[in-house]
Amino acid sequence: MPHDEIIPILDFGAQYAQLIARRVREKGVYSELVRPDIPAGELQKLKPKGIILSGGPSSVYEAGAPRCDPGIFDIGVPILGICYGMQLGCQILGGQVKSAKAREFGRARLHVVADDALVRGLPEETTVWMSHGDQVQELTADFVALASTPTCQYAAARHVSRPFYGVQFHPEVTHTPRGEQIFQNFLYDICKCSGTWTMGNFVEQAVAGVRKQVGNAKVICGLSGGVDSSVVAALLHQAIGDQLICIFVDNGLLRKNERQLVESTFRDHFKINLITLDGTTQFLSALDGVTEPQQKRKIIGREFIESFKGAAKSIKDARFLAQGTLYPDVIESGHGHAGATANIKLHHNVGGLPAELGFELVEPLRDLFKDEVRKVGETLGLPESIVWRHPFPGPGLAVRIIGAVTPEKLRVLRDADEIVLEELVSANLYRKTAQVFAVLLPIGTVGVMGDARSYDGVIAIRAVESQDFMTADWARIPFDVLAEMSNRIINEVRGVNRVVYDISSKPPATIEWE
Ligand code: XMP
Repeated sequence: MPHDEIIPILDFGAQYAQLIARRVREKGVYSELVRPDIPAGELQKLKPKGIILSGGPSSVYEAGAPRCDPGIFDIGVPILGICYGMQLGCQILGGQVKSAKAREFGRARLHVVADDALVRGLPEETTVWMSHGDQVQELTADFVALASTPTCQYAAARHVSRPFYGVQFHPEVTHTPRGEQIFQNFLYDICKCSGTWTMGNFVEQAVAGVRKQVGNAKVICGLSGGVDSSVVAALLHQAIGDQLICIFVDNGLLRKNERQLVESTFRDHFKINLITLDGTTQFLSALDGVTEPQQKRKIIGREFIESFKGAAKSIKDARFLAQGTLYPDVIESGHGHAGATANIKLHHNVGGLPAELGFELVEPLRDLFKDEVRKVGETLGLPESIVWRHPFPGPGLAVRIIGAVTPEKLRVLRDADEIVLEELVSANLYRKTAQVFAVLLPIGTVGVMGDARSYDGVIAIRAVESQDFMTADWARIPFDVLAEMSNRIINEVRGVNRVVYDISSKPPATIEWE
């Protein structure tokens, strides 16, 4: 689909390339990754407003290091090289790149030395994130330095007559706090973008892409009620209407009212074809007496695949499987940009489906980050209760009931969890926390209720703040909110006489207790 304005990024294999695209999109300009060796003629056809050369792990002097078509420098639009991209650009345009004496990794002080469009608006001294071995050390008189660090004279530079700019540091990462200014300057002052791109445009483009990919075939989508699969379902429904069939497996391990929320949102509101499988008996009997956490996970994963397979088989002419794979999943499964073979993340993602199901994959969110997916969800009209939902693991409450899972323990945990979430929402803390839930411990403790001694269950409250769920800090929920949660759980949930708060961070503790 043509874009009024596009900034293509030549991807030289950088860990951060997709993050650069996302920073550009955040600024209202469409951006996507392209092959590093894309011919200049092909690039020109995209009518780019500017071009970005990403970083990458190679050295420009290495045999086989990825290179770009030198012709791109003759297209006449501004080019910004980041790290390896800067070294490559400078080399092509006649500069010298040397291996730095001190390899620079981590934070560095950047000193702005010129008044130039790229660095305008930055404070004279600011922090930037460096991560490179080589650096541009000597530049011919064709280049001017715009900013330096104590060990790198040309931390930012530009060509005197051509619109080529380079930065050795990474403006796209959060460790470069003013990096956003560099993008602002490049896009608006240098490339003269108008910034009219929105997530609505992404939706239009994705809808067109899905239609083209699937034609008249049917598409199955496993709906879990989580953000990613919900957004995929809503997007596909917009694209292909009744050709989409969603399958929702109720494994009996869901939170209170979760199934109703999914059914009312997708079946009643969106009018999506939705098959709900009630697997409660099947899952609970398979889990009967099982206490080992990994074993529980395996059983749930296996039963899920069995149920899903059964339902999928009953749908005639289904050729495609839609998945809510996001960019971080693509990276985790070791695949780079566009064109890389699809891979389903399975490692601890119970709820994933094996490739042998034989479907072709539809993954319209694979270039996006989580918060972008939420924006797409909002654009598609999904309710806030789904768009901003905290993550919930595929094995559900089974990994929050320590030890064997029973219907009675599920009742206790569901009721307690519901109270925790209600109080969190009413204290206006739901959006400020990443994941908050209750855990049922496999012990009883002594208490006194009225005049009698009690011996009842213990609920732990787990609340974390996290950006990416790889690391997490325990959330400092105010004591009065915790007090309200505790009072209500002990008074309202039969079978609980004690509530404790988990004050461990990840690592070394994980977010889930099992
Ligand atoms: P941990 O407990 O490893 O969790 O710190 C990190 C994030 O992953 C979620 N999680 C899972 N998600 N299947 C999933 O789909 C699983 O088996 C699983 N285990 C943990 C967890 O809720 C948190 O968001």
